[in-house]
Amino acid sequence: MEKVTVGLGERSYDIVIGGGILSGIGESMARFGFSPTVTVISNPTVFGLYGNIIMRSLADAGFRCTSTLVPDGEEYKDYFWSYHILSDLLKNRLDRNCCIVALGGGVIGDMTGFAASLYMRGIHFVQVPTTLLAQVDSSVGGKTGVNHPAGKNMIGTFYQPRLVWTDISTLRTLAKKELLCGMAEIIKYGVIWDAGLFNILEEKREMIMDLEPGLISYLVSRSCEIKAEVVSKDERESGLRAILNFGHTIGHAVETESGYSKYMHGEAVAMGMCAAARLSEALGIMEKANADRIESVVSAYGLPHELPKNVNIDRLLSFISMDKKAVAGEMKFILPRSIGSVIIQKGVDMPTLKRTLEL
Ligand code: NAD
Ligand code: GLY
Repeated sequence: MEKVTVGLGERSYDIVIGGGILSGIGESMARFGFSPTVTVISNPTVFGLYGNIIMRSLADAGFRCTSTLVPDGEEYKDYFWSYHILSDLLKNRLDRNCCIVALGGGVIGDMTGFAASLYMRGIHFVQVPTTLLAQVDSSVGGKTGVNHPAGKNMIGTFYQPRLVWTDISTLRTLAKKELLCGMAEIIKYGVIWDAGLFNILEEKREMIMDLEPGLISYLVSRSCEIKAEVVSKDERESGLRAILNFGHTIGHAVETESGYSKYMHGEAVAMGMCAAARLSEALGIMEKANADRIESVVSAYGLPHELPKNVNIDRLLSFISMDKKAVAGEMKFILPRSIGSVIIQKGVDMPTLKRTLEL
């Protein structure tokens, strides 16, 4: 088992990473001194696969367990279903010292964290991420939230879990396209922070795609270490944390422009990272050879490296300028300088951006 700590003073917590560790969660949670009632939040897909093992482990450790299921899908990540979770917690009579457990991918994790931050002004929660994206990104760092018709993740809070319990063997049941979305985020960590990690992605693609446990464990723990370091320096994204959005500004715009149903988040981020790399090249910030390497790795993992042929560039540009990270209308781009290092660039001129996106 590997352990990564997110250092946030009295709100610090551990991310425990291992293979086949789900059955150990009860014993681990018992050490926290939570009240005895625990509610596990999940969806029917994930609960059907891993619900029993979690419920048994919690019961064996002396917890009284209940579960609340939300239908499977991003379209249910909304205020209505969070309210449903909150109502169930009230019905189950959870008190302020109780803990709830998020068992699932980023959708369940974001909604559970959101509900935990609201219930009785905040109760404890534990993340048990079961997608690669959730294991390397969404379960760590305390961004919680739900979608609104006006935009993705528009309603939310910063609220840290007490523990992240990551069992990499759950990835064996995950669809390949979901796995690739997680790979896009790992590529992101390589580009923004760690050239060595990027090299491993280049050199060991086949073993990684075969889910070789040692390698997956390394990729998940290294990604968590990087995210933990960034978050512990800038929890509320007043500066450094913005680098975690590399590829996301253009990626989110692609998702919005295409109506959210055409491209998966990871695919959109992949296109966004390649476009940002080309923008960096066009602005003379990064050498072409490095932009080529980023594009090659993205393609090698079966992710799209080009913007969709039929995308409306003007609409895309208007969504980019409306990005929720833009402050006072000023666009901010995370641009690589080399593999393993990025800068936060403000004031990118529209003609250069447009020309790059049209290429
Ligand atoms: P998801 O939660 O929808 O999971 C994807 C699919 O995989 C679902 O159908 C789910 O039921 C299924 N699944 C999950 N684990 C499985 C397993 N082990 N075996 C088989 N099937 C499994 O999607 P996701 O990609 O995990 O998360 C996307 C969400 O995460 C988005 O809502 C995004 O906004 C959010 N997110 C949040 C942060 C953050 O910092 N909070 C960061 C990145 C993304
Ligand atoms: N996924 C970006 C962040 O957590 O800040």
